[in-house]
Amino acid sequence: MNYENLLISTKDGITTITINRPSKLNALNSQTIKELHSALKVCELDKETKVIILTGSGEKAFVAGADISEFASYSVKEGKKLAALGQQLLFDFLANLSTPVIAAVNGFALGGGLELAMAAHFRIASENAKMGLPEVSLGVIPGYGGTQRLPQLVGKGRALEFIMTAGMIDAKQALDYGLVNHVTSQEELLPLAQSIAQKIMKNSTVAIAAAIRAVNANYTDGINGFAVEIEEFGDCFGTADFQEGTTAFLEKRKANFPGK
Ligand code: COA
Repeated sequence: MNYENLLISTKDGITTITINRPSKLNALNSQTIKELHSALKVCELDKETKVIILTGSGEKAFVAGADISEFASYSVKEGKKLAALGQQLLFDFLANLSTPVIAAVNGFALGGGLELAMAAHFRIASENAKMGLPEVSLGVIPGYGGTQRLPQLVGKGRALEFIMTAGMIDAKQALDYGLVNHVTSQEELLPLAQSIAQKIMKNSTVAIAAAIRAVNANYTDGINGFAVEIEEFGDCFGTADFQEGTTAFLEKRKANFPGK
């Protein structure tokens, strides 16, 4: 598929998806949301892709939010549809992807941009990154999961201050809050993401997918995460990756996981 607003490249098991609307600071319009859904789906099915890195083009922005020009005249009904569709197509879809996704936050991550980064499995940032949920300054609230994922990541009090003030924090503060795992220079951001991806790729993709499901179960209403963990743990014993991982350990050699 040809993408209007994404650049995609795969090398050595890592697929980098770059949101590419720099003249609009990579703001998420509906076309970009659809393209991201499609690209993530393709990556998940692609045996060559072991880890996905999600970033923004240019030196200024990861994603400066949902595209305000698209929804400024929406009705109540359209607003609800916008949030529901976006969550279904992209934000929940991304959070539940079985392939690990690292958000490399390379500048502004505001509104839907921060929500996108928060839906990724974890985040790293460059020193120039600025993060915020400015929605209440527009008379609306975060609608792509921000009111749920931010408190999970930084705690309720910090999340509410963040949302109510509509302010921005810098990369250092985001690191202090645990919103991002690492901060580095702009030049080192993608190399750092790649080196973390390489460490992930040495392990069983099947077990990693199970771990994502088990961790996510903790954040799903009505689901007992411990029970999901028991099921997923047990299921691993039936995989070829488990056979290989345990055999390789006992034979004192590196595992060569078949990925099934
Ligand atoms: N939606 C639509 N367009 C956006 C956008 C968004 N969320 N964020 C930036 N843009 C566009 C601007 O309208 C501008 O387009 P133009 O050149 O056609 O006028 C272009 O991107 C560059 O942005 P600009 O505001 O000129 O850059 P800046 O460096 O002065 O300011 C920001 C950067 C991020 C502080 C500012 O763009 C901003 O506040 N954006 C909106 C952030 C927001 O509220 N996001 C949440 C949406 S729910």
